[in-house]
Amino acid sequence: MDWNEELLKNRLAGKLIGHKLYYYPEIGSTNDEAYRLGLEGAPEGTVVIADMQTKGKGRLQRVWHSPAGINLYTSIILRPQIKTAAAPQISLVAGVAVTELLGQFCPGRVELKWPNDVLINGKKICGILAQMKTEADQIDFVVVGIGMNVNIRQDQFPADITDIATSLWAETGREISREDLIISLYEIFAKWYKKLLQDGFASIKERWLHYAAMIGRNVQISYFNETLTGKALGIDDSGALILFDSHGKTINITAGDATILKE
Ligand code: BTN
Repeated sequence: MDWNEELLKNRLAGKLIGHKLYYYPEIGSTNDEAYRLGLEGAPEGTVVIADMQTKGKGRLQRVWHSPAGINLYTSIILRPQIKTAAAPQISLVAGVAVTELLGQFCPGRVELKWPNDVLINGKKICGILAQMKTEADQIDFVVVGIGMNVNIRQDQFPADITDIATSLWAETGREISREDLIISLYEIFAKWYKKLLQDGFASIKERWLHYAAMIGRNVQISYFNETLTGKALGIDDSGALILFDSHGKTINITAGDATILKE
């Protein structure tokens, strides 16, 4: 089913996130479109929503599977007055917001995996991709892209991800309204974003760590052809993973994929 654009616009009127909304039945990538709108001066809280993406982008140059009618693909433009180095905090705000949202459907079963994957039963249900435009050491704008598997059935995933991906439908056995879901997402996101701007990163980090099952566990980090193992100690204020590595050194890792090792 297509999105109900009018209903969305009415329900989001005047909200911090979503007061300005661009909807596309089909687009390359909502992140690319939001970035273009950002360059044109789109205000904070502008959102792009697409029913399907033909070039959905994931982290590490991966493709984000984006079929029509069943999932959520959105990008949010923000203009926080913070230093460039603190930009990853915005992405972690999104991780916390999505986890809180999905927890309403699957209480106690949603977790975060560094760098910012949202999992249920160890399978990925949502990915977050933030991109930013900077001016000197200040942020001009950040685009936070969120892709969530909502009503997609297990057999609709491509073969290579069917064992590692899940959806709200698979986890709850029921169809979820994408309109209701995205409105709640923007509301919860706005709550945590305001908290970041008003009170700083500490409470976001605490919540993120609360949801992150891998902290305190032995993990393997892979980044293209490199791998590292060690104990995950936490995250720093730039979202980097703090790892106590197998040589007894503490290192901060900024990019890669994590796997929890069996103990
Ligand atoms: C990841 O690899 O985990 C990040 C996936 C991010 C996908 C979303 S879908 C909406 C937005 N537009 C894109 O092209 N990517 C993000």
